[in-house]
Amino acid sequence: MKKIEAIVRPEKLDDVCQALQDAGCPGIMITEIEGHGLQKGIKQKWRGEEFTVDYLPKIKIETIVDDGELDGICDTITNAAFTGEVGDGKIFIYDVQGAIRIRTKQSGMAAIS
Ligand SMILES: Nc1ncnc2c1ncn2[C@@H]1O[C@H](COP(=O)(O)OP(=O)(O)OP(=O)(O)O)[C@@H](O)[C@H]1O
Ligand SMILES: [Mg+2]
Repeated sequence: MKKIEAIVRPEKLDDVCQALQDAGCPGIMITEIEGHGLQKGIKQKWRGEEFTVDYLPKIKIETIVDDGELDGICDTITNAAFTGEVGDGKIFIYDVQGAIRIRTKQSGMAAIS
C-alpha cells in the first residue's frame, strides 16, 4: 500500500476530487494548509501595491491505494491539478505499513477497498 499526498491549488480541489472519484479512488482526506516551494517570498499585487507573502494557501489531499494503482492515481491528480503555472503543487509518495478497518477488524487492502 502507498500513501499519495498531493498539495494542490485550492481552486483545483473540486476537479481533483471528481477525477479521483471517477478513477475509483477508495477514500480521501482533505486538509487546508499553507506553505511554499522553491520560490520563497511570493510577490502579490493588491490595489496597485506590491507586497510579499511567506506562505500561500494550498490543499493537501491524501489517499491510500494499492501499489498497482499508484501510477494511475498520480497521473489522475497531476492532470486534474495542472495549470502549467508556478505553484501547481507537488505529490509525495509514502510506503504504508498497514491499515485496519475498525468496524470489521479487516486489515491490509481489505480495510481499504
Ligand atoms: N520540499 C518541500 N517540502 C515540503 N512541502 C513542499 C515542498 N515543496 C513544495 N511543498 C509544498 O507544496 C506546495 C506547493 O509547492 P510549489 O507548487 O510551489 O512547488 P515548487 O517546487 O515551487 O514548484 P513550482 O515551480 O511549480 O512552483 C507548497 O506550498 C508546500 O506546501
Ligand atoms: Mg513554487
